[in-house]
Amino acid sequence: MTAPERNYTDIVLAIDEPIATISLNRPKALNALNSALMRELCDALTWLDDRDGVRCVVLTGNERVFAAGADIKEMAEATAVDMLNRNNLARWDVIRKLRKPIIAAVSGWALGGGCELALACDMIVASETARFGQPEINIGVMPGAGGTQRLTRALGKAKAMELVLTGDPISAAEAYARGLVNRVVPVELYLEEAQKLALRIAAQPPVAVRLAKDAVLKARDLTIEEGLDYERRLFYLLFATEDQKEGMAAFVEKRPAGWKGR
Ligand code: CAA
Repeated sequence: MTAPERNYTDIVLAIDEPIATISLNRPKALNALNSALMRELCDALTWLDDRDGVRCVVLTGNERVFAAGADIKEMAEATAVDMLNRNNLARWDVIRKLRKPIIAAVSGWALGGGCELALACDMIVASETARFGQPEINIGVMPGAGGTQRLTRALGKAKAMELVLTGDPISAAEAYARGLVNRVVPVELYLEEAQKLALRIAAQPPVAVRLAKDAVLKARDLTIEEGLDYERRLFYLLFATEDQKEGMAAFVEKRPAGWKGR
């Protein structure tokens, strides 16, 4: 079901509670991420983050392309001051701050900002045709939406440096071997597999999911000692939820748990 209360043109938002699927929808421009598309994407994500019935989000493109990067035509004539004033990349913070899990379903090209968008998601399900790369160097710039930081954390310095400095992409198989993506499936299955994974997560207790996501993401930024302390506090906090009482009672009584999200 599409969401009638949100009117978008550059994305399609389909809600099938407990999950929502957002499809990038500029096929003629290979889903290049222009300002209008990013505005719509961030609006939809912000809205979904507050919508109780939606517990996990899938972000996808089409079979040929996830996204071919920031819109080069929109940027080609810009000055540094134009870029600073537009500050389009600040919009991406919405994705970083999303509390609900988000899964990228990637087929075909995920290049530049498209690769960065997939990396900004919590998990990636890729089709066998997926290609991940940071080709900005080929057009005289460099990644600007997290590529140098997230790829380096995901792949290690040497491989990230190779991608960023050569602009050459890696295959889905290599991305999988290096831990960049969760799974690689035939092209006809990538979206379905991502949605299955989303449903699996959506069936888990929502407050625990939210805090566990938060703790995993913090592992990038904190020292091990800070991270362990942070994790422990969130673990204790979950004992304030009805779902903890229900989950443990259900285990003891050998029955399925019924989550309330409280
Ligand atoms: N921005 C704007 N338009 C784009 C685009 C982009 N990033 N990528 C593709 N398009 C457009 C093409 O201009 C073309 O439009 P026309 O039909 O009007 O000419 C259409 O999409 C189809 O593209 P191609 O004909 O090039 O398709 P292809 O199959 O031959 O090649 C491709 C596919 C290898 C992905 C190639 O399009 C390509 O290299 N695209 C650019 C990739 C890139 O450099 N991305 C980085 C952008 S900068 C960035 O992302 C910065 C950041 O960190 C935020």
